[in-house]
Amino acid sequence: MTEPLLAPARQRRMPPIVVALLLQVLGAALTVGTAYPLASAGLTMPPLGAAFMTGAYAAILARLARLDTWWLVIQLCFAPLVVVASAASLPPWIWITLFMALVAIYWSTFRTQVPLYLSSIKVRQALVPLLPTGRFTFMDVGSGVGGVLTDLAASRSDGEYHGIESAPFPWLVSWLRIRTGGHRNCHAHLGSLWNQDLSKYDVVFAYLSPVPMAALWAKVQREMRPGTMFISNSFTISAAAPDRVVQVDDLHQSRLHIWTRR
Ligand SMILES: C[S@@+](CC[C@H](N)C(=O)[O-])C[C@H]1O[C@@H](n2cnc3c(N)ncnc32)[C@H](O)[C@@H]1O
Repeated sequence: MTEPLLAPARQRRMPPIVVALLLQVLGAALTVGTAYPLASAGLTMPPLGAAFMTGAYAAILARLARLDTWWLVIQLCFAPLVVVASAASLPPWIWITLFMALVAIYWSTFRTQVPLYLSSIKVRQALVPLLPTGRFTFMDVGSGVGGVLTDLAASRSDGEYHGIESAPFPWLVSWLRIRTGGHRNCHAHLGSLWNQDLSKYDVVFAYLSPVPMAALWAKVQREMRPGTMFISNSFTISAAAPDRVVQVDDLHQSRLHIWTRR
């Protein structure tokens, strides 16, 4: 059975990467349309010039399509980078290796729109005093390379820590980290957070992106028991103000948004 990686509401939308690719094709078509009359007049465009024109068209189209700002930069640079990389005449195995490495690390980020980035050390430290007194169960949904789990387990050995991660390479790193660190109370699972039953946990921690937050909140409300705690690093929920916010003095001035289930 294929595991759902996206919240149901998001599955109906075309992922931005597909939109971006279509706009690149459109940008290339517009470049051909521009270059052809110029060539007829004896003005030939060098490949890099054509690539920059394609990038510029694609970036303008991305703006009109209301893609996020970072897509504009990607759109602008994509075609020129392809031309530069082709000119470098690197052996083909480099590209396939690079591609496989990126797939293992980012897996279905193009669909989930939740890339891998890590909670800062200060965020992990700020989580410790928020943990319940006595024995408790903790779940990191989208656990990345497992740093939150192992750090908390080192500080509070009376907790039972679980992480669910969909991308194979980060999951493997967390699994090795837990094994080599001897953290018997830590468990890293490979799979989708949408298939996890959150009713089993006293604390659920998330550091994802704005995209899945509404669906995650619906899941939290459906499954988490009264008195349990949902903590989101950085990303909040428009429908429900947090009960408490902890400001963390790290590079990003991260905020921990905390909801206690009623
Ligand atoms: C921003 S990272 C956070 C890593 C870690 N929790 C931390 O705070 O350092 C988010 C992680 O969630 C994973 N992820 C995204 N969608 C997921 C899903 N549907 N199920 C499980 N993991 C997911 C991504 O692969 C990524 O590793």
